[in-house]
Amino acid sequence: MPQEFIKIVEVGPRDGLQNEAVPVTTDTKVELIRRLAAAGFQHIEATAFVSPQWVPQMADASAVMAQLERKNTIQYSALVPNLKGYEAALAAKVDEVVIFGAASEAFSQKNINCSIAESLERFRPVAQAAQRDGLRLRGSVSCAFVCPYSGEVSTSALVQIAQGLQDLGCAEIDICDTIGAATAKQVRVAYEALAKVIPVEKMSGHFHDTYGQALANILAALDSGIRIFHASVAGLGGCPYAKGATGNVATEDVLYLLQGLGYETGIDFAKACEAGHFIAQSIGRPNHSRAANAWLAKCAA
Ligand code: HMG
Ligand code: MG
Repeated sequence: MPQEFIKIVEVGPRDGLQNEAVPVTTDTKVELIRRLAAAGFQHIEATAFVSPQWVPQMADASAVMAQLERKNTIQYSALVPNLKGYEAALAAKVDEVVIFGAASEAFSQKNINCSIAESLERFRPVAQAAQRDGLRLRGSVSCAFVCPYSGEVSTSALVQIAQGLQDLGCAEIDICDTIGAATAKQVRVAYEALAKVIPVEKMSGHFHDTYGQALANILAALDSGIRIFHASVAGLGGCPYAKGATGNVATEDVLYLLQGLGYETGIDFAKACEAGHFIAQSIGRPNHSRAANAWLAKCAA
């Protein structure tokens, strides 16, 4: 029987680096993406066309895109909060644009400076432009489970914004645990409710690992039929507007889990470990991937 495929969206170059206070050079970002591509990643969130006042680390978005080697097999995505970001992303020949909202009003205000309803109105012309230009559109829902400002998020608020993004034409909808506080039961309940209005194959899981629950949440999501996951090599990252939240689940750990479960990802585990090691060393951060650290120690022995 052929192995079932899991789509991995590597968000390290964007989510993994956006929170770094010291500027990471464009060359380092491009080299990370080159290594990820060489490891077999086909979906790489390369950067964000957001306000450089809000997220200075992503100010070189166009320069990063300009230096990437293009292959038909690799889809480079970027966050776009509004038409201004969209136009820059289009000019930079991004393959997929990502509009990003939140299931919590407080987080929406802090992260994109508008209410949930206003964000959907702001996204509408972006979605129309993406359709006109033939660009794939993805939508991310932050604080799908818990908000750092207002606490637990209701399932109905999550379903409402996710449905709003689907109605705008998003081909994929990311259910994001921004502060890595969700547990497996919440994940099951959320996907069960979401699946009533959004086809399960259109949804992904984007789990940060602050409370160490991300792999358990991925297992719960797999049980709910989710087959797309976001992750960041070396577990780097965090959102500048979610203080205290740590990085995404480490890609290497996800690959190790999925390999053990018999899923195919098309990604070379060893090369993913090397890419994670490269970026952690380059920016002077610890490598948070337990699987990568174990593997690298074994190789060095
Ligand atoms: P604003 O200040 O309300 O924007 O910010 P504005 O429309 O009033 O414009 C103010 C200035 O910003 C103007 O410049 C605009 O041109 C400029 P000025 O006239 O003063 O010189 N501007 C831009 N410049 C470059 N690119 C743009 C852009 N837009 C306006 N796209 C805005 C509103 C949405 C722009 C701002 O709040 C913003 O950029 N927010 C992004 C925050 C962000 O990137 N957060 C991290 C990513 S989300 C995340 O990590 C969560 C995720 O991983 C999922 C999860 O884990 O939950 C995806
Ligand atoms: Mg995130």
